[in-house]
Amino acid sequence: MTSGSPGGPSMYDIFAEEFLGHATDSAYNAHYDRPAVLAVLGEVRDLDVLDLGCGPGLYAQELIERGAARVVGVDASSEMVRLARHRVPGATFHRQDLQAPLSWAADGEFDAAVMPLVIHHLDDRVSALREAARVLRPGGRLVVSTVHPTGDWLRLGGSYFAVEKVHERWGDGWDVSFWRQPLEATCDEFAASGFLIERLHEPRPSAQMRERFPEEAAKLDVSPGFIVFSLINRGTGLR
Ligand SMILES: C[S@@+](CC[C@H](N)C(=O)[O-])C[C@H]1O[C@@H](n2cnc3c(N)ncnc32)[C@H](O)[C@@H]1O
Repeated sequence: MTSGSPGGPSMYDIFAEEFLGHATDSAYNAHYDRPAVLAVLGEVRDLDVLDLGCGPGLYAQELIERGAARVVGVDASSEMVRLARHRVPGATFHRQDLQAPLSWAADGEFDAAVMPLVIHHLDDRVSALREAARVLRPGGRLVVSTVHPTGDWLRLGGSYFAVEKVHERWGDGWDVSFWRQPLEATCDEFAASGFLIERLHEPRPSAQMRERFPEEAAKLDVSPGFIVFSLINRGTGLR
């Protein structure tokens, strides 16, 4: 199982269509992650926005609808990129591994970026974050969401401080690999990549989510599922 090795297949190719069907209106993606990330990101009107690990373009679509001047998505999965191009003709999409340089992008080209539910799949998170910092303008914001470290710890057991790659079967038989690590390690990686943590957000279920998905909401009321970071580019990574 790869996390999208350069040029090779991606684990997400296999269930890209299923992911789209699921994430369009699912409790965790549509009613928990996306509202939280987009709220933390704030106003995008007339901004050039990068969607890192764009999947089938659910974020790209929202960003276009919210008036972004330009949206560029990147994903390692050719199937995800195919779906995104079909669904969101107003955005541009590149198929590539985020751990490789974004050689098509100039220094400081983007005003803002999102990296939702992707970073835990990357082996070399610092390289990917440094490249995001390079292509963001100094002072630009990157919003990252990921699995809350306590969620992994409670589900997987062992030490909270373990840093290890985990292989798991999610939902409808999706075989995925991802990294678990303590909060401190994630924050250290942001600092090492030239970002300052502006805000750390632990989303709570919305009123709408409570109504639509009461069981999931009750769970998320006591145990956070995801965590959202608003990161400011310190501007140290320009070439
Ligand atoms: C859980 S999905 C999230 C998709 C989208 N961000 C969303 O929230 O709707 C994770 C995405 O990360 C992509 N991904 C995983 N490893 C990657 C890598 N090394 N480089 C680029 N994309 C990667 C997958 O192909 C998949 O589309």
